[in-house]
Amino acid sequence: MAEITARSLQVLTRGEQIRSAVLAARNAGETVGFVPTMGALHEGHLSLVDAAAAECDRVAASIFVNPTQFGPHEDFAKYPRDLQRDLTLLRQRGCDWAFTPEPAEMYPPGFSTSIDVGPTAAPWEGAARPGHFAGVATVVHKLLQLVPAHCAYFGQKDYQQTLVVRRMAADLNLPVEIRVCPIVRDADGLALSSRNVYLSADERRRALALSQSLKLAESLVRAGETDVAVLRKRMLAHIASVGGVAVEYIAFLPEDAVVETTRIDGPVVVAIAARVGGTRLIDNWRI
Ligand code: PAF
Repeated sequence: MAEITARSLQVLTRGEQIRSAVLAARNAGETVGFVPTMGALHEGHLSLVDAAAAECDRVAASIFVNPTQFGPHEDFAKYPRDLQRDLTLLRQRGCDWAFTPEPAEMYPPGFSTSIDVGPTAAPWEGAARPGHFAGVATVVHKLLQLVPAHCAYFGQKDYQQTLVVRRMAADLNLPVEIRVCPIVRDADGLALSSRNVYLSADERRRALALSQSLKLAESLVRAGETDVAVLRKRMLAHIASVGGVAVEYIAFLPEDAVVETTRIDGPVVVAIAARVGGTRLIDNWRI
């Protein structure tokens, strides 16, 4: 049986340290892949590390719970944190560098710049979480300055985030390829999320309504339904039948767009956000 690779992982807390390490690798002719994370790593994050390791000579990951992307009443304080476990997982998956800055390293006193990505960041998650995408775009831009990788890896689960990051990277001429990797799900369909740890057993069972309703939409489209109003109604009816899930939005988005379509006439991403108890979950499905 193949042994798990245990490459030596360098843990760096200062921006100048990770930047020098990555630049030295690049100057030696190596390619570098970068996986930005907020820690509480699960197989979804680790699949991004695997993709980076498959495509690049060296892999860097960051672990930073970015305060500026949380609203004042969101879960920044209770967001799960377990640095030692995360570092063990990164080591096992062959990551070369973990960048684990303190907030003051990323946001020194006087910090005041923010990146507004415009219409891509405005609806859906942007409307539900004011300021969220400015926080994401700003920190991802900063991380990409400190970790000047060839490729950066993001999960499809945060679908609108991938559009925001791509837009920001293109608009600001960042010399990095943005790669988006598939959602990783538990066997019963629940999309992996660091926030799943907040769910009780009963809430977790109810949370399956999200992926079930997305699969239902897909089967209806495959059976010929093209009217988004009908599809949304059927999804909402399924979710209501499960109970305990408060839907915030269901959006039918033509690929790479954030303006909803009313009729399915090509590939779409169906995105959903809902609260299950006190936990806000998102998921999406490509049809
Ligand atoms: O997706 C995340 O975990 C975060 O939004 C990111 C990209 C690491 C920025 O803080």
